[in-house]
Amino acid sequence: MSESWWRTGVIYQIYPRSFQDSNGDGVGDLEGIRGRLDYLAWLGVDALWISPFYPSPMHDFGYDVADYCGVDPVFGSLEIFDSLVADAHARGLKIILDFVPNHTSIEHPWFRESRAGKGGKRDWYIWRDGAPSGGPPNNWLAHFGGSAWTFDEASGQYYYHAFLPEQPDLNWRNPKVREAMFDVLRFWLQRGADGFRVDVITHLIKDEGLRDNPHNPAWISGRPEIERLLQMHSADHPEVHGVVAEMRAVLEEFDDRLLIGEIYLPMERMIAYYGEDLSGAHLPFNFQLIEAPWIPGAIGDLIEAYEAALPEGAWPNWVLSNHDRPRIAARVGEAQARVAAMLLLTLRGSPTLYYGDELGIGEVEIPPGRIRDPWALREPGLEVGRDPERTPMQWDSSAFAGFSTREPWLPLTPDWPKRNVAALSADPASPLSLVRALLDARRAHESLSRGSWRRLKSWGDLLAYERRHEDDHTIIVLNFGAAPQLWPVPTTAPKQTIALSTHGDRNGEAVLARVSLRADEGVVLAARKG
Ligand code: NOJ
Repeated sequence: MSESWWRTGVIYQIYPRSFQDSNGDGVGDLEGIRGRLDYLAWLGVDALWISPFYPSPMHDFGYDVADYCGVDPVFGSLEIFDSLVADAHARGLKIILDFVPNHTSIEHPWFRESRAGKGGKRDWYIWRDGAPSGGPPNNWLAHFGGSAWTFDEASGQYYYHAFLPEQPDLNWRNPKVREAMFDVLRFWLQRGADGFRVDVITHLIKDEGLRDNPHNPAWISGRPEIERLLQMHSADHPEVHGVVAEMRAVLEEFDDRLLIGEIYLPMERMIAYYGEDLSGAHLPFNFQLIEAPWIPGAIGDLIEAYEAALPEGAWPNWVLSNHDRPRIAARVGEAQARVAAMLLLTLRGSPTLYYGDELGIGEVEIPPGRIRDPWALREPGLEVGRDPERTPMQWDSSAFAGFSTREPWLPLTPDWPKRNVAALSADPASPLSLVRALLDARRAHESLSRGSWRRLKSWGDLLAYERRHEDDHTIIVLNFGAAPQLWPVPTTAPKQTIALSTHGDRNGEAVLARVSLRADEGVVLAARKG
């Protein structure tokens, strides 16, 4: 069997509202993405994961789906989707869709029917009577604050929603729900989708008895309300793995498609989503780099632990940021964001790169009047807002950064006139040039795209590791600190050359016994030929 494309591929996440507006409404769309395919091919990524673009009232910006088999007019049409797929495929780019199976929109016809109690769809969602003592059926909390139960006056029962009241949870214990949702997968797979990122896959099955969740003794005031409870009975139920395997089986009806699961869980439980005999997700998203402190020793330890814990044959993956978490440059600073990019793109496994991170987009101040994220609006003052990581892509120095012809739905960064694709692509020392060079290096060195990973001895602010594939050998040394460092090359290693520096200026430099690293510098060393 030939090697699957996603093992060596790099995934690029696009938040479609924010990538490129083609019709001047201030919101990005599919035609906009289509117009930027040449950029993505030039950058050198292999697959585009596009966050939801289905018809939706947009209470959670598309993660509240009102029709799984359509395209919201804000984003385009099915015809435009087809053209996007065709044009992407013509450039060798795969298209991964966001599948949101845990909940629909309150406006989905299934929920309308369920709410009305007609058409036999009551049991497609999770309806319960209130507790005998009054109030909701149990203590479960919603992810964006408040009870996870909303009372429906007309039917006198509560429905469950792990997120907003406008996002009722489907009842995945109902085989009819499963069949309908698997047909949704088939619909898109037949249309040419190369895979899915499955939203909150851990949530699909809940405790049958809906037992109360225990209190979280570590919760402190100022943390989001959802963290008051441990999600023991509302998520990561053992039976969910059966559902994931069924989803995977649907993908297996087609050629070489990819199943990714969104999983925020401790490592061992996350790894369980590869499934028994790897029958689950191909890639359970590995968010450890998002959650870890930016300390080289701790990061080295977690990489080693993850590598050691992977089941035989399981392929690793790495994520640095996404539309729900602060951008990497906002978290670790602009200088370290380059080191982070080198780390992400030189670890073993499939990396996911978040749009705009290649420009080093960092902190974006969202003025109170422009906050759009429902979580930020529901829990103000808690810094849970996700708007800063969703601001528009910055293409050039024309009005609105070439993103739109009018004020975009979220503000641009203050430095967009300089921090944009046009300006940074002309600068060999820019983060954009670095990401492109790293993607190039992954193609030039099989050790980077498919080789083994081994940590090398390092200390203080340094992290070092080697990658090997047959006779291709690379060493990566990263300086997490703001002081210069020296790292002694192991005497057993072949003679090395700097293949790439995060600063973009040392390519080809011969390395003798020690490699010097400037502040916040990372290097990829490659064995010298001849
Ligand atoms: C996870 C998604 O990434 C997030 O953006 C969304 O709000 C929730 N799931 C609910 O669908």
